[in-house]
Amino acid sequence: MTLLVTFATVVTLLVISIDGYNCKVVQFIFGDSLSDVGNNDRLSRSLARANLPWYGIDFGSGMPNGRFTNGRTVSDIIGDKMGLPRPPAFLDPSLTEEMILENGVNFASGGGGILNETGGLFIQRFSFYKQIKLFQGTQELIKAKLGTAAADKFFQESQYVVALGSNDFINNYLMPIYRDSWTYNDEGFIDYLMETLGAQLRVLHKLGARQLMVFGLGPMGCIPLQRVLSISGSGECQEKTNNLALSFNKAANNLLEDLSKNLPNASYRFGDGYDVVNNVIKNPSKYGFENSDSPCCSFGRIRPALTCVPASTLCKDRSKYLFWDEYHPSDSANELIADEIIKRLNFTRVNENNSPSPAPADAPSPN
Ligand SMILES: *[C@@H]1O[C@H](CO)[C@@H](O)[C@H](O)[C@H]1NC(C)=O
Ligand SMILES: *[C@@H]1O[C@H](CO)[C@@H](O)[C@H](O)[C@H]1NC(C)=O
Ligand SMILES: *[C@@H]1O[C@H](CO)[C@@H](O)[C@H](O)[C@H]1NC(C)=O
Repeated sequence: MTLLVTFATVVTLLVISIDGYNCKVVQFIFGDSLSDVGNNDRLSRSLARANLPWYGIDFGSGMPNGRFTNGRTVSDIIGDKMGLPRPPAFLDPSLTEEMILENGVNFASGGGGILNETGGLFIQRFSFYKQIKLFQGTQELIKAKLGTAAADKFFQESQYVVALGSNDFINNYLMPIYRDSWTYNDEGFIDYLMETLGAQLRVLHKLGARQLMVFGLGPMGCIPLQRVLSISGSGECQEKTNNLALSFNKAANNLLEDLSKNLPNASYRFGDGYDVVNNVIKNPSKYGFENSDSPCCSFGRIRPALTCVPASTLCKDRSKYLFWDEYHPSDSANELIADEIIKRLNFTRVNENNSPSPAPADAPSPN
């Protein structure tokens, strides 16, 4: 079955009936700060939290909500455009079995990585392995409620998003305080990441994940923090870091193709927004941006500011900045990335109608 057909089916069957329960198709999201919607806010010792203004200023009430940006994440936007509910954070105290069946769960955690050791500097964060463990616990709850057969069906019908990897570079390999930075060379480190990610995705398949998307990395060498730390002091993008992102994306694409071929009934896809973000960086005005090299939220001239705080000042037009803070894209950048991934995975029809509808019969089929 091709991806196109598979996803079209999912969009058509937004409500599936499982032994009397009308379950929606929901999402389970695994990720880092680019997808966190409040888990780290409830990890009281974590040093990576988006719990102060001006995080969330363009989202709902404008109060901090745990997202590391001013508005929506890429996963928020893709889910919205596919007609899927937004999953609550795993640590949301109001999370119940009913909520899980209605909305799925988001396990993403700022500072988390593919590797357990990534982001240790933040003291508390959920690594991908930890997120998978938490997902297993969630499955047990649902099994207790629905019975094994119905629960299995529910989890097989669900959508899975995996968006990790930036921290394995920024907060591990590229920082000399981490052992991995002196244990591996570039190629060896990416092999190690792929081996680990492959094993993790196989575990998710065993747990029932059939429809899964992995998001690739953006031009990490061009985030404001990397520019400010450039050795030459020129504020240029760090090419070495960008090349690592490109190598990661290439290897991950191959891994996902391989898994999709070899795991039964799996539609495991890879999508990245590297090129589109890189284009904006090179030519912001062409894409409606005014600034693509510094954070919208900054602390006077003090750089890097590391996080956005109440005493920071904001840029005049937040929609015109590619970056929200030193690390994270703005809502408008996330929209651009989401649209690119949707386009690459051929979700454009859903997007155009802005309502869930099956792909038209004349859609090109890779078969
Ligand atoms: C990573 O952490 C998980 C628990 O979160 C543990 O089960 C696993 O063995 C660890 N893996 C490695 C390679 O250390
Ligand atoms: C694959 O899908 C078929 C048809 O839906 C089903 O009978 C079979 O059990 C599935 N296999 C796995 C491993 O999910
Ligand atoms: C999406 O469609 C384009 C052409 O319309 C095709 O070249 C490409 O292979 C398709 N991609 C996927 C992931 O199906």
